[in-house]
Amino acid sequence: MNDEGLPVVVSGIRATGKLHLGNYFGAIRNFFPLQEKHQCFFFVADYHTLTTHPDPDVLRQNRLPIVKTFLATGIDPNRSVVYYQSSLPEVAELTLLLGMVVQLGELERCTTFKEKVRENPDNVNHGLLTYPVLMASDILIHRATIVPVGSDQIPHVEMARAFAHRFNHLYENIFAIPKTLENEAVRLPGLDGSKMGKSHNNGIDLLDDATTIREKVKSGLTDTNRIHRNDPGDPLNNCGSIYPLHNLLCTDQEIIAIMQGCKAGTLSCVECKQMAAEKVVALLAPIQEKYYSYNDDYVRDVLVECAKRAKVSARPTLHQVRQAMGLD
Ligand code: TYM
Repeated sequence: MNDEGLPVVVSGIRATGKLHLGNYFGAIRNFFPLQEKHQCFFFVADYHTLTTHPDPDVLRQNRLPIVKTFLATGIDPNRSVVYYQSSLPEVAELTLLLGMVVQLGELERCTTFKEKVRENPDNVNHGLLTYPVLMASDILIHRATIVPVGSDQIPHVEMARAFAHRFNHLYENIFAIPKTLENEAVRLPGLDGSKMGKSHNNGIDLLDDATTIREKVKSGLTDTNRIHRNDPGDPLNNCGSIYPLHNLLCTDQEIIAIMQGCKAGTLSCVECKQMAAEKVVALLAPIQEKYYSYNDDYVRDVLVECAKRAKVSARPTLHQVRQAMGLD
């Protein structure tokens, strides 16, 4: 709870490239409804981005569009706090302090760490290993209880819970115990059927124009067992990328019709893709219109103001942690 008795929400997005529909359905689309009844902190995780050594100019370019996207999807900066993680260096100090109650073994066992090591064995840096401690600090510094994220981030939120419990037990009961949004964690596959990712070249970007969206969706993986137009499909188990998209975009009635049509072989994959593409175009058009209406200077002013509010929220927690650990 914050000072006004509102539950606190925290979520962040790394500045690793263009935002895509996975980021939208996994995280961003939940932000706007949450800000009604919660104190929300949404940030660009630029410290976390450094684990993969981006070109500094590319990192600079990637940050502002994320904030613009927050605003374009309805985040009100007078209510919610939008900021760059690096403008709140208090999280770096909390990471150092929290790290004292974290064991090396649990960081090495973290599934996302092991995945990154497999993907990029030549860059197993310290920041990558301690990634979950920094992420826990992002959350705990504002005493958040709700963390809206896609399903890939669940292990990190679980670790934040464990660290908070441990610290509270060892020192003082300072941290709230965070959790993900109940029943909301999503994992959207990319057009090739593997997880949609910013660097996987398999996504529909939130700023893609209508023609690009239609082309991309046309290339999407469907049920490979459907060779002829009228072959019956198995959307739930075999459709690589289009049915999961429909599942997030359609009403219950529409989804039943798609499921029945696919199973009966009366709805072809081509038609199904056309329907999905139009849904995506309609979803993104108003977001893109708002996105392009923002002036960069306005967004930078928002960031300056919000960074001050982020500090007001973070500093008392850090102060208490320092005191509890004997650093007062
Ligand atoms: P990142 O930048 O990888 O992704 C941002 C958000 O998008 C979600 N997401 C997806 N959801 C569903 N399907 C997909 N294909 C998909 N791809 C990405 C992610 O789950 C995430 O919610 N570690 C975080 C950033 C972070 C953070 C935090 C999040 C740093 N500190 C504190 C919450 C709280 C990350 O790398 O997200």
